[in-house]
Amino acid sequence: MEILLPDDVDKAAEYLLSARLVAFPTETVYGLGARADNDLAVAGIFEAKGRPSFNPLIVHVASMAAAEEVAILKGPLRDFAEAFWPGPLTIVAPSLGSVSKLVTAGLSTVAVRVPNHPLALKLLAETGCPIAAPSANPSGQISPTEAQHVVSGLGSKIAAVLDGGTTTVGVESTIVGLVDGVVTILRPGGITQDQIEIVTGQSVKPLGKSTDPKPSAPGQLASHYAPAKAVRLNAASPEAGEVFLGFGDIQSGQFNLSPTGNLKEAAANLFRLLHELDALETHQSIAVAPIPNTGLGVAINDRLSRAAAPR
Ligand code: TXA
Ligand code: MG
Repeated sequence: MEILLPDDVDKAAEYLLSARLVAFPTETVYGLGARADNDLAVAGIFEAKGRPSFNPLIVHVASMAAAEEVAILKGPLRDFAEAFWPGPLTIVAPSLGSVSKLVTAGLSTVAVRVPNHPLALKLLAETGCPIAAPSANPSGQISPTEAQHVVSGLGSKIAAVLDGGTTTVGVESTIVGLVDGVVTILRPGGITQDQIEIVTGQSVKPLGKSTDPKPSAPGQLASHYAPAKAVRLNAASPEAGEVFLGFGDIQSGQFNLSPTGNLKEAAANLFRLLHELDALETHQSIAVAPIPNTGLGVAINDRLSRAAAPR
């Protein structure tokens, strides 16, 4: 695969327009992009990731106006778009049917977001068409927060990666939608439940975790974001063979998500450190310190519990 620098953004746009796959940075993680209006291009995403085809994809656009060519944004869903775009919030809304059915996996809704990253926005503006993009990693594995993660995960399977350095948020976008007409957090992520509740003025329900391998409302797959090594959570200290991933004062060895116990910093470091610990030849498994389950900690614990789930 070709590594493109920020100056080559027009080349990345050209590749996308000619239905090739290009990974690009967003503020959350690197996405594996394909033009969302082209069945063959979108099929390429599933092939490159080895992703189960029942899992629908997020559509990325440059603006609210562009989103409205893909989805119907009304009521609270429109309020969220106005409050958080560009930003790490994905909105599931009724689809206008303008993207490939492979993107929506045949659902009547579509997931859409405007990412808050200058290079992503430039790329989306230059292509001028909606871009479907899941995280740019092989299905089930750790999400990429650096171009090098994309290179090692997807190798020759895609045309290029646009290198925009390390992503800042570090966990995927929060997904909101209506379930039986009620605002529901379908996946915790970069926007916290508190931030969403400020917009609705009401308490908002997170969706219960599903173990159903076919996520209809998408509770999502239990095992996901998984390193090759086994992961043990809420550990006070490492046991034999384990490398320790600390948080705040709960610490052993040199790896810590945030020595000061800052959840934002921990989210930004999470996937990079999991990649790093997974590559260590000196240890067989990973133990992780407890992370408070508030604010961004909810998204971090969601990813960690999937990383630790039975495979
Ligand atoms: O931060 C992110 O969201 C990253 C970056 C690249 O933008 N993207 C990402 O995409 O995480 P992906 O494809 O890994 O996550 C897609 C999730 C899936 O869990 C899927 O179930 C949900 O979005 N989804 C997509 N379309 C949906 C729909 N119509 N209804 C409900 N859930 C949907
Ligand atoms: Mg993913």
